[in-house]
Amino acid sequence: MPIKAPNSLYDLIIIGGLGHIGLPLGIAFAEKGLKVCLYDINKETGEKVKKGQMPFIEYGAQEILEKVLKEGTLTVSYDIKDISKAIYVIVTIGTPVDEHLTPQTRAFLEFFENIREYLNQNQTIIIRSTVYPNTCQQLLRMLGNGRQWHIAYCPERITEGYAIKELKELPQIVAGLSDQAVERAANLFSVIAPKIIKTSMGEAELIKLFSNALRYIQFALANQFYMISSRFGVDYEKVRWAMKEGYERAANLPTAGFSAGPCLLKDTMQLAAFDSNNFLLGHAAMMINEGLPNFIVDDLKERHDLANKKIGILGMAFKADVDDTRDSLSYKLGKILRFNGAQVYYSEEFTKDPTFVSKEKLVEICDVIIVATPHSNYKGMMVPKRVEVIDLWGIVVGGERKLPKGYITAEYKVIPSFENVTAKEVFSAKKVSYSRK
Ligand SMILES: NC(=O)c1ccc[n+]([C@@H]2O[C@H](COP(=O)([O-])OP(=O)(O)OC[C@H]3O[C@@H](n4cnc5c(N)ncnc54)[C@H](O)[C@@H]3O)[C@@H](O)[C@H]2O)c1
Repeated sequence: MPIKAPNSLYDLIIIGGLGHIGLPLGIAFAEKGLKVCLYDINKETGEKVKKGQMPFIEYGAQEILEKVLKEGTLTVSYDIKDISKAIYVIVTIGTPVDEHLTPQTRAFLEFFENIREYLNQNQTIIIRSTVYPNTCQQLLRMLGNGRQWHIAYCPERITEGYAIKELKELPQIVAGLSDQAVERAANLFSVIAPKIIKTSMGEAELIKLFSNALRYIQFALANQFYMISSRFGVDYEKVRWAMKEGYERAANLPTAGFSAGPCLLKDTMQLAAFDSNNFLLGHAAMMINEGLPNFIVDDLKERHDLANKKIGILGMAFKADVDDTRDSLSYKLGKILRFNGAQVYYSEEFTKDPTFVSKEKLVEICDVIIVATPHSNYKGMMVPKRVEVIDLWGIVVGGERKLPKGYITAEYKVIPSFENVTAKEVFSAKKVSYSRK
């Protein structure tokens, strides 16, 4: 168990506590009976959370939020002075890269200048945001002043939307710049994590960046395979399915699809910047993943004069079954289509935006539908034959299809080259998850 400080009002305060990482983390600790304060500058979101409303999709969080608010273990604060009232200070603010893909480490460190007067050496400062390597050392140097600071780095490795489940399942990496920092952080996280893995600071920093770069490169590989297959007139999804079937060595090959969002590209670029831009695979992955919208548009241009087309993008969130549209490639796709003269319409299940249209309307008005996000709600959605469908996951049904057809659809059954596949296999193939969490 973590140390309890008699004079502290809170066991822990989470700075950036209303964000996608801070809020579920706070809820998870509060559920275990720790007194948690969520400190944030976003009052609009804070008022929602105080009323027990989750501000974004996080599966399983809503009920626990209501419970911990009622029990009084979770509070929201906009008062920076509250930082001094907690024994653990966990930092989960954003760590973006700038327009040149360079990590904004200075902004992160400058943030500590603002809170410095509310920090004290009895506290353990835990960095949870994903940071550029050596940031914690820089922080220690900056706080300096002859005082003994206890700084730990405990990277977050959950996939957005599933934090409540994964915080209880994933081992927690713990590193620190003092033995006390490591011990105290390990004690704290052992309250929610099933396993603590202690590493050096450098190891922890690389573990986090490597984890996201690995995912990003895996998706890039799938996207490159998809482009090769499509140019060759072959359906990548069928290749993937047949390749994986009974062949463990290919089991991890993902579906093709937009790889975006606030973390994967950003963290791959943090690693590239750290390695003096020698991370060639990372840059190649960026070119492939960011190039997928262009590939789709180029393919469409071969068949259509886009200036005469109404094109609908189904799904604006950066991945399936969440409402987070940050850095979604759906918007980039829309921009490229518009630049080529198309009239573009957006539809999204989980986010309200006055410019979005319903999925039914999208199908009604558009000549072409591009499924950009495979939300479960789109599964089995019927599209009339007159509408051309680009659907990398094969999640919607019907429509006029060029490659890829998508093996999960009913059409799969009639593909002659697969006549040896039994009906049983076809139906079991339908159960395969198409979600790329
Ligand atoms: N989103 C993910 O899936 C994920 C996964 C693992 C790690 N991370 C990392 O976690 C960090 C946070 O990401 P996120 O997605 O939660 O971002 P977010 O934008 O959802 O949350 C950040 C929160 O910090 C608040 N904030 C900003 N400046 C502040 C300040 N000066 N004082 C107090 N609060 C402030 C914002 O209002 C916001 O609520 C990033 O480093 C990210 O790379 C994110």
